[in-house]
Amino acid sequence: MAIALIITDRDVTSLRHQLEENLEERVPVWVYPDIPIPEDVIMAVVWKHPPGVLAQFPKLELVSSFGAGVEHIMQDKSLAPKVAVTRIVDNSLSFSMRNYVLMAVLNIQRQFRSLLQNQANHAWAKPEAVELPLRIGVLGLGALGGRIARDLAQLHFEVYGFSRRKKEIADVKTYSAEDKQLPTFLSRVNLLINILPHTPDTEGILDFLFLSMLPPKSFLINVGRGSQLVEADLLRALEEDHIQEAWLDVFQTEPLPRDHPFWEHDRIIITPHIASVTNQGEAARILAENYRNVVSNQPLSFQVDRGAGY
Ligand code: NDP
Ligand code: OXD
Repeated sequence: MAIALIITDRDVTSLRHQLEENLEERVPVWVYPDIPIPEDVIMAVVWKHPPGVLAQFPKLELVSSFGAGVEHIMQDKSLAPKVAVTRIVDNSLSFSMRNYVLMAVLNIQRQFRSLLQNQANHAWAKPEAVELPLRIGVLGLGALGGRIARDLAQLHFEVYGFSRRKKEIADVKTYSAEDKQLPTFLSRVNLLINILPHTPDTEGILDFLFLSMLPPKSFLINVGRGSQLVEADLLRALEEDHIQEAWLDVFQTEPLPRDHPFWEHDRIIITPHIASVTNQGEAARILAENYRNVVSNQPLSFQVDRGAGY
């Protein structure tokens, strides 16, 4: 029995060593494309894997995403229905994500970008409102969104949350898709944080109609997936002042093409999909635990509902 690491966008030497250290028994951990005996692979850990590559493992029982998102696995039609899917959920991922979002929220609340502009112009100019009154909406209240909403509320921000099914979070006013409350939720907030998973239901969800349900001059932070934002519609929403400023960490095409209009836009802030990056040590611990679970037929941690797609 063996584990295959199929992670094509970074060096996984340290992950491999840490995974081996976390496994008590000697289990071969092979790094794609160097998989000597595909028939031995029962678990694959994947990120940006070549489509169809999993079909070469006839004894595959478990595929784990190397991140929180799993759309790359869900979209792989070669994956047999019996194969279980898991993902990474851990404190360091939600800590980093919460901090990224907090950084953006505070920059917006204190209008830090315009203060920097004033400094560049040697202008001692106090803003009319030193702190913007924010009503923050968190779209997606899972492992990451739930923590963002809870922590922002603990910092005494006014926080609203939206998820598929109704959630209870202390000091957060929550709304749900099952109660058809999206328009109400959007009308309440003036800063929207998108942290939804990519599924067929969420693809393209942030379109012009959606953005125009926010009050005029709202702020947007997108840390979910680029596929959820209709990019031309954001440009129109900025143009028509439905959106005042957008902080974007994820894009339809990554890396963002050098000639993309977002680069030049003075009300768009771009970061290169770094809001939260999987910690290899934490991931090794979770992956080893799920390897042991799968070989001993125990319940898996952080199993994905393949029907729901996340
Ligand atoms: P979870 O699966 O824990 O949570 C997903 C949340 O979205 C749940 O609250 C779920 O509702 C809600 N949801 C799903 N579909 C819908 C829908 N159609 N309408 C309304 N709500 C919906 O995911 P995580 O919090 O762990 O991660 C979320 C996403 O964050 C990842 O899938 C990934 O795309 C992104 N991400 C981005 C990173 C970055 O660096 N930019 C890093 C890590 C993750 P319910 O609670 O009812 O199930
Ligand atoms: C993730 C990501 O899903 O890095 O973990 O985007």
